[in-house]
Parts: sequence; C-alpha cells; structure tokens
Amino acid sequence: MKKIIFAENFTTLEKSHFYSSLSFLTYRIFSISKWKYKLKLENKFLDYFWAYDKKIVSFYNARTAIFQLLNNLWFKSKDEVIINSYNCISVVNSIIQSWLTPIYVEIDKENLWLDVDDLIKKIWPRTKAIIVQHTFWKPSNIKKIVNIAKENNILLIEDCAHSLWSKIYDKKLWLFWDFAIFSTWRDKVISGVNWGFLLINNEKYFKLKNKIEKKLKKLNIKILLQNHLYNVLSFVWIKTYNFCSIWKTIIFLSKKFHLFNQVLDENEKKCENDKLYYSLPDSLAYIALDQLNKLFFIQKHRKSISIYYNENIDNKMFNILFKEQKQEDLNYFRYPILFKNAIDLESFYNYFKDKWIIFWTSWTWSNIAPKTSNLEKSKYKWDCKLAEDLSKNIIFLPNSTNVSIKDAEKIVKLINNYNV
Ligand SMILES: Cc1ncc(COP(=O)(O)O)c(C=O)c1O
Repeated sequence: MKKIIFAENFTTLEKSHFYSSLSFLTYRIFSISKWKYKLKLENKFLDYFWAYDKKIVSFYNARTAIFQLLNNLWFKSKDEVIINSYNCISVVNSIIQSWLTPIYVEIDKENLWLDVDDLIKKIWPRTKAIIVQHTFWKPSNIKKIVNIAKENNILLIEDCAHSLWSKIYDKKLWLFWDFAIFSTWRDKVISGVNWGFLLINNEKYFKLKNKIEKKLKKLNIKILLQNHLYNVLSFVWIKTYNFCSIWKTIIFLSKKFHLFNQVLDENEKKCENDKLYYSLPDSLAYIALDQLNKLFFIQKHRKSISIYYNENIDNKMFNILFKEQKQEDLNYFRYPILFKNAIDLESFYNYFKDKWIIFWTSWTWSNIAPKTSNLEKSKYKWDCKLAEDLSKNIIFLPNSTNVSIKDAEKIVKLINNYNV
C-alpha cells in the first residue's frame, strides 16, 4: 500500500489524540471545558524545565499570549515593536490589534536571525519592544540583542514558538530576558492541537499573571469542538488516504460544515483578528499534557531523521540551512533547504508531490507567512530584501514522527537522483 509522506500540518498527529478527542466528543463531553488539566499541564512544564521560580500563563494559542502581554504593559498607541521580517502573520496581527506598529528588521541569510545593523538603525524613542524569534529551532543571536535592548532600555520578548526545549550556551532559550512565549499549535514542536503560553522570568512582572488571567474568557464551545473534530477527522483522513475516496468525502464535509477551524483564518491574514482573549480549555490541556510527555521522543526522532539527511543528501541544486549546527540540545523542528531560484524550487516540489511526498511550504513564497497574507495590512514596507528572496527559495523536508527512517532513505535516494 502506497504511503503519503506529509510534512504539513500533520507533524504530531497520532492515535492517542484521536482517542482522547473522540472521548471528549462522546462520553466525556461534560468535562470538555473544566480546569483540572490546565494546572497539571502548567506544573508539568515548570517541572520539566526546572522553572519553578517562574510564572506561567496559559492561553488558547501563542498569538493570544503576545496580544495579552503587549496590552497589559505600559505601551501607548503607535509605539513600535521590532520583529523579524521572516515571520508569521499571526504575530503581526497580535501587534496591530494592540494598536502598536510592527517594524520589520532584515534577517541574516544563513541563520535567519535579526540583522544587527538594521536593528540598530530602526531603534528610536518610539521603539518599546523587540520580539526575538528563534526561527525553526535555530537559536537567534540573542546575547547581542539582549545587550542592544539593555543599552536602549527596550523590553525583550523571546518568541520560542519554534524552539521548545532548544538550548544555547548551555542556557535554555527562553531564559534570556523577562518574557518568552511558546506555542503548541497543531503544526509546532509538539501539538496539543492548541496551547500557547507566556513565561514570565522576572519577579518584577509576576503580578501580570493575575492581571491577565482575570481578563481571559472561556473558549467558545464551537471552536473547542472544531479542535477535537480536527484530531478525529484528520486522523481518519490520513489513515484512509489510500482507500477510495473516503478522505475526499471528509475534506468536502469538513469544508462544507466548517468542521475544522483554520490555522489562520481570513481575518487573521488581513490583521483583523481581534479574538485574542481565550484561555486554554481543560480538554485541550489534557492533549497537550500527553504531548509534553512525548517531547523527548519527538525531538529525538526529528533529530535522527535530520542527521540522516545531513549525512546522506548530496545534491548541489540547493543548500541545507543549519547543517553545520554542532549543538546537541536542539529540537530540529524544521529541515530547511534553500534553492538558487524559485523555478527550481517549484519543479522540485511538484516532482516530489507526484511521488506522494509533500514538503512543508507554509513559510514559502512570502516573508510574512502564509503566502496569502495581506502584506499591505501587515504594514510591511518592502525593505527587507533578503527575507523576501529567502522566502521564495526555501522549502522544508519532512522529519516529523510520521516519517520513518525507511521513508527518509526513500526521500534521500530520490533527491540524490534528482536533476532538473
Ligand atoms: C514564530 C511564531 N510565533 C508565534 C506564532 C503564533 O503561534 P500560535 O499559532 O500558537 O498562535 C507562530 C505561529 O505559527 C509563529 O510561527
């Protein structure tokens, strides 16, 4: 039986989630939005990461964490927040919804971190915060940025949405400054379908936890059901991909009756999503807890597939980004490769698609992902050429838990024999 190898959206989809969600949709329906597991999940995180002396605030997703943090600080309307110009529209939307202005800083081509010269050029009195993104697990140049932030009295928020568990200089990535945000949205390092959280590292800001939590609302029951349906139906979808047209029916019904919610809806892409106040429901916390318990297994799997690619791929059409990374404690979340031009990328993508190998392209074709984002509304000024070019030439090989080493061998063989 032919297997489809997905990198997109199904990174951590598994049987245990299918059964958990099914149980919440049936005999556990009345406990779908209680609170027992949220506290357990938060404590487990603090326990796993030796962060007992920090404060954690859970949200439905990380974009809500960013919005709530920015809204509960002392910033005034039109103050500026510096971000990486290779980014996700959800981060931009959260800044714009806080009545702040996102300022995009050019990236370094090899490491995808903030270009320090451009960063310094864009700092002025209205700059109030820098969101430092550790893109696709690659640690940013955080030490330099911490110094710049200190010199200019600017607040620093680490965006660890891609870097759960990664370390640098023997220090975990989220401990460099006062705030860090994380995401376990369905295509992240681990997937609780949803869970975003804010970690407050500085005692000076601990009071924010209560202040923010008081303002949060319970997740709308329809959205909650959609999350569980996503787990159940997409599991069936991926398992039945080979059989007749069952999966087509599932997709058709899901779209027609809005059975799933989108990762990014149309409002978000226009920076008009103002529903940034939901807390994390218990039934989603239950699933996130299960994923947190599997974090080391998931990370080890991604690492072994990535190392296999590093050692065996031999095709000069593209460069493997981050290949020379020597550190041990990284999560290898994505495996980016960079083509010389978009035409080569397109034919490479299509060639593999025909062979049922679907590469991850959510951060391809536009520097503000996804490609359907409205860049005018995002206030992007078309001044970060490297980020724009890179997004047109980058694609990601599958390395998640549903890619076996046998699949990786097949992918490597096809890549090594691939010629335009
Ligand atoms: C770098 C980065 N930060 C933050 C977010 C927001 O995370 P969430 O999807 O949990 O809202 C994303 C979403 O994809 C992201 O890629």
